Amino acid sequence: EKGGYEHFMLKEIFEQPKSIHDTMRGRLLVEEGIIKMAGIWDHVERFKNANRIIIIACGTSWHAGLIGEYLIEEYARIPVEVEYASEFRYRNPIITDKDVVIAISQSGETADTMAALKLAKEKGAFIYGICNVVDSSIARITDAGSYTHAGPEIGVASTKAFTAQLTILTLIAFKLGKHNGNLGNADFMSLISELDAIPKKIEEVLNTTHELVQNIAKDFINATNFLYLGRGYNYPAALEGALKLKEISYIHAEGYPAAEMKHGPIALIDENMPIVIIAPKKGHYDKIVSNVQEIKARKGKVIAVVNKGDQQVSAMADYVIEIPETSECFSPIVASVPLQLLAYYIAVYRGANVDQPRNLAKSVTVE
Ligand code: F6R
Repeated sequence: EKGGYEHFMLKEIFEQPKSIHDTMRGRLLVEEGIIKMAGIWDHVERFKNANRIIIIACGTSWHAGLIGEYLIEEYARIPVEVEYASEFRYRNPIITDKDVVIAISQSGETADTMAALKLAKEKGAFIYGICNVVDSSIARITDAGSYTHAGPEIGVASTKAFTAQLTILTLIAFKLGKHNGNLGNADFMSLISELDAIPKKIEEVLNTTHELVQNIAKDFINATNFLYLGRGYNYPAALEGALKLKEISYIHAEGYPAAEMKHGPIALIDENMPIVIIAPKKGHYDKIVSNVQEIKARKGKVIAVVNKGDQQVSAMADYVIEIPETSECFSPIVASVPLQLLAYYIAVYRGANVDQPRNLAKSVTVE
């Protein structure tokens, strides 16, 4: 049940310290200095010798896939492509038996993802699944996989499943990177102990930003548009923040890589345009500072997600949400939490049905 929360979505947002912990349990063994993932280890040569990894997913899971690309390319140095399942399956893609396909799906029942996997399987690719629902259709047709163990997600808008997917992708990237020698032991050790501390940081974010974000939300109940901007790992986090808002509040929102703003969306910016900008210190900070200057010169309303003690962006922003500092690769996990809360409270104040948004289903079993 809802455990005292008004909606499943809020409950699931607050469950994230636990769900991320559960996803890492038995896999991340910090003291021993190892990541244990049988599904990866049993097929590690397949991954190591892969021409490339193709990540296939839809919606929020596709956003997790984009962050997976940054993670796997940075730490394991294996080329990664990320595709919408619906596009992949209908475009006669080039797939060989040297490719590894990673499917990401909370429900494990998404029709397009399923069809794309069948196609990849026919062509001999090795199929790895990252599913939340145990024994789901996608989990059953994969050659190997890792369950996210986030627990049942009832709210239609995905929250804890998303951060659990990011956790698994992080574990995979670090494990492969360690194995193939691209991630040295000292870096590996410091990254895994930082990962181990992420649930605590999420808890801190929930405690310190919950009320603040609730208050910020009140000022945007009548907004008709939103832009979400981020760079690097936080570009997909911006896409995900925008999707959350669209789905449950029915406010139009677009996510963009911050540097792309000047190639079009900047024309939209005036005093009525709220812009959520994800600006952690370790994520191309100086570049983001100039993006915020460009926005403020056009009087956009800036809601900035920054690290604690931030000065430059905070001085220009209209609203400041502070999150703890992390290595860049973990920042989308931490930054996503206040963005989930923002979408949630804007939707609640608009009287929307947060757990069951109109026109949406939890499992998209038709194409
Ligand atoms: C967004 C959302 C959808 C799903 C998408 C894929 O909050 O829930 O975008 O992420 O329909 O679903 P799964 O992960 O079950 O394949």
